[in-house]
Amino acid sequence: MHKRVIRPPRRLRRYNPAMAIAKSLAGKVALVTGGARRLGRAAALALAQEGADVAITYLSSPKEAQRTVNDIERSGVGGLAIRCDVTEPKSVLTAVKEAVTKLGGIDILVNNAGAYETVPFEDLTIEQWDTVFGVNVRGPFVVSQAALPNLQRRKGRIINLGSLGGLRAWPTHAHYCSSKAALHMLTKAMAKALAPEIAVNCVAPGMIDLGEKSAKQFTKRLANQTPMRRSGTGDDVTAAVLFFATAPTFITGQVLYVDGGLGL
Ligand SMILES: NC(=O)c1ccc[n+]([C@@H]2O[C@H](COP(=O)([O-])OP(=O)(O)OC[C@H]3O[C@@H](n4cnc5c(N)ncnc54)[C@H](OP(=O)(O)O)[C@@H]3O)[C@@H](O)[C@H]2O)c1
Repeated sequence: MHKRVIRPPRRLRRYNPAMAIAKSLAGKVALVTGGARRLGRAAALALAQEGADVAITYLSSPKEAQRTVNDIERSGVGGLAIRCDVTEPKSVLTAVKEAVTKLGGIDILVNNAGAYETVPFEDLTIEQWDTVFGVNVRGPFVVSQAALPNLQRRKGRIINLGSLGGLRAWPTHAHYCSSKAALHMLTKAMAKALAPEIAVNCVAPGMIDLGEKSAKQFTKRLANQTPMRRSGTGDDVTAAVLFFATAPTFITGQVLYVDGGLGL
């Protein structure tokens, strides 16, 4: 005899109360540097959607920062925008203090702020070299050190934004590539130095299409060279950020290339 299976109406089948409350980062606080625009904004919103309160820093984009905070708060979590130059220790200490005072601590630090420019090697100036290293290497070092007591207390995580350029040599980006290679090594050195309290990892994007019209031709050409036959998206990068934000802390010191296989 067949047992009659009683199934709830389709409308109710879609509703799963366990899914509705299971936000993986509920109760956590994230600090995302350079979070007003582009990939930093995407990471901040993804962390908020997973339930974290999110503080972002900005340097020259106050309006975009406010818009991102409004969107963070739309996820039902706390949001905060703080002006900060990541190369300036005083500015960083003040920003970290404000995030901790207003949001209660820091569990996840995303060192996203970055500097990128194209310059032929023979034209590269000392100032350009120092600026790129200042933002891409000194910045993550200074911010991580400032957030250390909080991250240690809360057994937190640091996620650095590296680059495929830290692995592959791009001749018109000697300073950028060298700085990202340094950041990849800093990730490993910090992972060893800060264990077992803090897990430190690095997300290294390849070609990411953020809709810039000026880069359309270049993006198309690189997409053709990419084994996955497309450029990356903000979602590809934030998936990797969320992975390290929620992964077992036994995973530390890793550089995860999000490049569709372009670096292979
Ligand atoms: N986009 C890509 O395709 C790609 C590929 C590989 C790696 N990455 C890495 O991923 C990260 C995010 O990429 P993105 O393209 O979104 O970055 P981006 O637009 O080049 O820079 C992100 C933010 O960094 C902030 N910033 C710059 N200098 C700063 C300083 N001295 N102090 C504080 N903030 C500063 C800026 O904030 P304000 O706007 O407020 O001034 C900027 O909005 C970067 O580290 C980048 O190198 C990106």
